[in-house]
Amino acid sequence: MTSSLISSRNSPAKATAQNAKASPDFAAKLAETQALLRRAAAEFTPVTQASSLGAEDVVITHLINSLQLDIPVFVLETGALHTETLALLERTQAHSRAAIHVFRPVQESVIAFVRDQGQDAIYKSIELRKACCGIRKMEPLARALTGQRAWITGLRQEQSTARAEVPLQDDSEVAGKGLSKFNPLAQWTWGDVWHYIAENQVDYNPLHDQFFPSIGCAPCTRAISLGEEFRAGRWWWEDEAAKECGLHVKA
Ligand code: ADX
Ligand code: SF4
Repeated sequence: MTSSLISSRNSPAKATAQNAKASPDFAAKLAETQALLRRAAAEFTPVTQASSLGAEDVVITHLINSLQLDIPVFVLETGALHTETLALLERTQAHSRAAIHVFRPVQESVIAFVRDQGQDAIYKSIELRKACCGIRKMEPLARALTGQRAWITGLRQEQSTARAEVPLQDDSEVAGKGLSKFNPLAQWTWGDVWHYIAENQVDYNPLHDQFFPSIGCAPCTRAISLGEEFRAGRWWWEDEAAKECGLHVKA
């Protein structure tokens, strides 16, 4: 375990207490995840982890650090993240063995969008919301992935119906983006994720303690209530089918 990733900020660990519950086959899943990360580092260089600093992503970064793998991490700092997320980014930059690269949007594009469409544009139409994601996420993502052979994400099958078939290794984008995608936690449950965080005392976003299971940009993320779906707090004013920002939409 990487002691530098331990944080006292997580006490009392409400999200861990509420969610940590390992599946019966957790040990096998963990071994498979570790083997996949080792293989990605050995056979797919250069490979990078995409981290939103959400629960899944802090687990993956912790594994990369523990296994001492040569896998740098990138964060798309959209300019609209919560202060809690930005604080976690700073702590991660200070403590991670793996390099943390931050990609930000082109400022001129952000300024022009807000000037032309207004501060509340993202709530007015799906087109304008996707235009914002294009400027703040997709363009920086393209830069982050330039020259990479593969990327690693925290997608899990349990997160939504659209993600129910997410594979451990996805080569379907090799033709388009030219990249393989690894989803090492594809088969982990939410309980597995929090079991790992609790066992290894991984630093995490305190918003998870306030019923934010899925965390994106501040204007587009809210807490969820009991019984609501995992991604109910993301783009909650839109139809279910529209709820992806484009990072994981097939070309
Ligand atoms: S999203 O498409 O709806 O925004 P979600 O928040 O579920 O995605 O995150 C899924 C995965 O996408 C994360 O585990 C991470 O790999 C990647 N990701 C999402 N947001 C970011 C970000 N801001 N920076 C880097 N990677 C991200
Ligand atoms: Fe813009 Fe919201 Fe997309 Fe963030 S999630 S880039 S604020 S529309």
